[in-house]
Parts: sequence; C-alpha cells; structure tokens
Amino acid sequence: MDLGIKGKKAIVCASSRGLGRGCALALAEAGCDLVVNGRDSKALAATAAEIRDRFAVGVVEVAGDVSDPAMQAELIAACPAPDILVNNNGGPPRREFSDLTRQMILDGVTQNMITPIELIKAVIDGMTGRGFGRIVNITSLSVYVPIPGLDVSSGARAGLTSFLAGIARTVASRNVTINNLLPGKLDTDRLRGPKDVDPAQHKARLAADIPAARLGTPEEFGQICAFLCSVHAGYLTGQNIPVDGGLYTSAF
Ligand SMILES: NC(=O)c1ccc[n+]([C@@H]2O[C@H](COP(=O)([O-])OP(=O)(O)OC[C@H]3O[C@@H](n4cnc5c(N)ncnc54)[C@H](OP(=O)(O)O)[C@@H]3O)[C@@H](O)[C@H]2O)c1
Repeated sequence: MDLGIKGKKAIVCASSRGLGRGCALALAEAGCDLVVNGRDSKALAATAAEIRDRFAVGVVEVAGDVSDPAMQAELIAACPAPDILVNNNGGPPRREFSDLTRQMILDGVTQNMITPIELIKAVIDGMTGRGFGRIVNITSLSVYVPIPGLDVSSGARAGLTSFLAGIARTVASRNVTINNLLPGKLDTDRLRGPKDVDPAQHKARLAADIPAARLGTPEEFGQICAFLCSVHAGYLTGQNIPVDGGLYTSAF
C-alpha cells in the first residue's frame, strides 16, 4: 500500500532502539525524511546509518535526553516544519509504591506526560497551518491494565491520554490527527530478561498469556505507526490502539 507520505518530514523521538526505531524504519520505508533521537550517540548513529543504507531518505541525528527542553529545541531546530511527530521516551523504572519519592513521580510525569505535550505544543500550529499533521504517542497498555510497580508510568501516560483527548478534537478539521499506540509486550531491550535466564524461555513465559502466543516485533509496531501517519488515516483521531496480540480482553 502506498501510504502517500513520501517526502514528508518526521521527528521520531527515542528512536535509536526498540519501538521508536521500528517506527523510524517504517516511516523511512514510506519515504519520509527523519529526525531520529536517543541519548547514546553511538547507538543512534548505527540506526541512522542503517536507515540511510536501506532507504533513500534524509536522516538527521539529534542525540540527547528528549525530556530536556534544550534537546526538544534542538529537535525542532533540526526539523522546524514537521508533518509527523512520533512521541516516545524511556519509561520510569519499576518501583514499589512505598519507595517512590516526590522527585521520582515528577520525573516520570515529565518523561511520559509533559515532554510529549511540550513537543506537540511546539509543532501543532505549523501542522494546522499547513493542513496536514500526524501525531502518534507511544504510551502503554498499562493505561488500560495496571502493571504492579509501573504506576508512575501508567498514571503519567493516562494523564497524557486524557489531556490529548480534548486537543485532538480541536485540530481534526485541519487534517491533524493525534492517536496513541499502546504496546502490550513487544520484543525489545525493555523486555529482555536477566542475563542468567535463557532468552527463549523468558520470551515464552512472557507470551504465555498473550492470545497471539508470541511477543510482538518492533517492525510490525512500526508499520501500524506508519499507517496512522499515512494520508489514509486522516479520519482516525483521538484513539487508543492496543498493539498487544489480543492481550487486552474487552469486547470494546
Ligand atoms: N516493549 C514493550 O513491550 C513496551 C510495553 C509497554 C510500554 N512500552 C513503552 O514504550 C516505550 C519504548 O519502549 P521500548 O520497548 O522500545 O524500549 P527500549 O527498547 O528500551 O528502547 C528505548 C529507546 O528510547 C531511547 N530513550 C530512552 N530514554 C530516552 C530519553 N530520555 N531521551 C531520548 N531517548 C531515550 C533509548 O535510547 P537511549 O537509551 O540511548 O537514550 C532507545 O532508543 C517506553 O516508554 C516503554 O516503557 C514498551
């Protein structure tokens, strides 16, 4: 399927590895020029080089912490008029409720709620002015299903979801969409088990309760993201789309 976005410009945050990288690859395959990001400049350079090798698109690397306002300004400077923004970031570490400090909660909310809102704020007027915009936020299935120890992540992402539910409706008439992808269990570094556990056994254990009977891949996640960014998805906005192999059990 031609996604109709060849030549569009995309900022893909936290995209040197994992799900963000999957989104960057799929958008590059669709012909988008990219700004990619991650803190480890070596890993970022490797991903950028792979994208340049495989697809004839422009790739600019912006290395650093996407939660840092100065880094956000660098991302926007590298692509002042983006057509597509994929918001992604690391997630807060697993912590017992009783161990959480005020600063840990603030850091998580900054990472997973405030940072994407700030980036959307920086790009949305340009998108509405140009009459095209696609914003995809990588959140988590934990917005629907609490995961013990990841409460800061769940709360921050749920806050982002509610915040944007209203904003999405204010820009829909200008062909700007805002949607959230909710990963369930996908095969990335984030889900890798301890060193002393056999990776195949670890994955099988994680997949035991997934109707699809396997972990998802960053590549298939990226293709769904690219479709949401396509010209065909202009009438799909304000939605939460689990990418979870059927793990979230609900008729609606
Ligand atoms: N994989 C899953 O099944 C799953 C499920 C639910 C939710 N999620 C959420 O989805 C998001 C992506 O997960 P993933 O599995 O792709 O993780 P991952 O494999 O660990 O990759 C994370 C990517 O984000 C970058 N990153 C992390 N913190 C960053 C920061 N502060 N600034 C810029 N880049 C940063 C990493 O590069 P550097 O480390 O070099 O910065 C890396 O490129 C996370 O928020 C995660 O919590 C994932």
